[in-house]
Amino acid sequence: MPDTRDRHRPRYHVTPPQNWMNDPNGLIQWQGTYHLFYQHNPFGALWGNMHWGHAISRDLVHWEDLPIALAPDDGGSDAAGCFSGVAFDHDGVATILYTGVRDADLEPQRPHLATSDDPLLRTWTKHPGNPVIAEPPAGLEVVIFRDHTVWQEDGVWYQGIGSGIAGQGGTVLLYRSTDLVTWEYLHPLVVGDATQTAPFTTGTGWECPDFFAIDGRHGLIFASHDEHPLNVSWMTGDYREHRLIPTATGLVDAGPSLYAPQSFTDDQGRRVMIGWLRERRSDDAQVADGWSGAMSLPRILTIADDGTLRSAPAPENDLLRGDTLPTTTSADGTLTEARGDAIEIVATFTLADASVGLLVRATDDRAEQTIVRYDPTTQELVLDTTRASLDVDAYGTETRLAYVPTGETITLRVYVDRSVIEVFVDDQIALSGRVYPTRDDADGIAVIGTDRIASLAIWEMGDALPARQG
Ligand code: FRU
Repeated sequence: MPDTRDRHRPRYHVTPPQNWMNDPNGLIQWQGTYHLFYQHNPFGALWGNMHWGHAISRDLVHWEDLPIALAPDDGGSDAAGCFSGVAFDHDGVATILYTGVRDADLEPQRPHLATSDDPLLRTWTKHPGNPVIAEPPAGLEVVIFRDHTVWQEDGVWYQGIGSGIAGQGGTVLLYRSTDLVTWEYLHPLVVGDATQTAPFTTGTGWECPDFFAIDGRHGLIFASHDEHPLNVSWMTGDYREHRLIPTATGLVDAGPSLYAPQSFTDDQGRRVMIGWLRERRSDDAQVADGWSGAMSLPRILTIADDGTLRSAPAPENDLLRGDTLPTTTSADGTLTEARGDAIEIVATFTLADASVGLLVRATDDRAEQTIVRYDPTTQELVLDTTRASLDVDAYGTETRLAYVPTGETITLRVYVDRSVIEVFVDDQIALSGRVYPTRDDADGIAVIGTDRIASLAIWEMGDALPARQG
């Protein structure tokens, strides 16, 4: 067994048993059980040989590894990889649509259909007619053609495929079908503008589109596949004649790590989202540790009256809480009786002129530290990981996001889990990063703006995969 307790391996975020993980796939609550499939390379800690790994949960936060669920077929139309896809219920049959990749040059990438009759969705039968769409739409010069979002309207299935139209921008190409096997191309669901750069870019091609309705409002999430910065954006707006007319847009997570999220509606009718938290360290470091990638905590999506897509941590994350830690704070803000690298901190500050926030994963001399703060003078949230690690193989960044709190206070909820930092601001906005401190004392905590703190609570957190710890 590899060492699953190495210093950077998160404890309460899902990671692969070993080797590589990227996008969450096929998120579904099936017969009560939550399923998390994910892009997985069983043969190494870097991307390649895409299979679907599999974990299940009864409560959305404690998970159990299951065997690999989906593998490429030698000589088949998915011989070079089973890329990302979605799971859904087709007349009581668990069904997935995923992108099968045929050749070693990673082309062509085409939609593939499979079904499962296993109550735990451990095995899948691929449809003999795969791929179910042979070519991208004629007459369109597409940039990419992969990843799927699927929904049903009046008994008809709709499928959006991640793409981009050359010279225009990222898009989702919309198809429809009654049997999931024969698909008719309709039109783009919406087309982005590749020339847009401010306030952020949406790029030339969209991966992992995710179209949904929450309480009658429509939203789309997509991951821009252009080189850095890799944004994950949302658009909300009017859905008319099978087109999304966006009226609001923003970032799903302002940090440098979250990518290719997927959401699903669970049995409680909530829209639950999980995203991949990419590594921010060198390939060599990932290979040396023998694993790569983590999943975000589950987040609940809502669409506000003004069309803003909000994400809050799922209430179930509280089930991971263990003991509370004492919040005694010295004059310089250092927590004198609490340390930890697998903790949750909830801090509410009253707002004045100076910055408020938290230092986490901080050494006593602050040579290593991760800063989460709000600057009321510039009205910006800051996640600064530039000094998180003395290791040159770890990539720090400073993320700034404009934010105007609606009240007199701001609440920072910071999940610290070894190399994972997930920040929620007022339980509406998320910023996620990855940090790789080197020193044993990099588990210190400090408050920025001790005179402004209205409330502070800290919990130790338990394991997401208890069985792995033996
Ligand atoms: C996004 C992505 C998807 C693709 C998968 C391959 O991270 O590139 O577009 O299906 O990963 O692993």
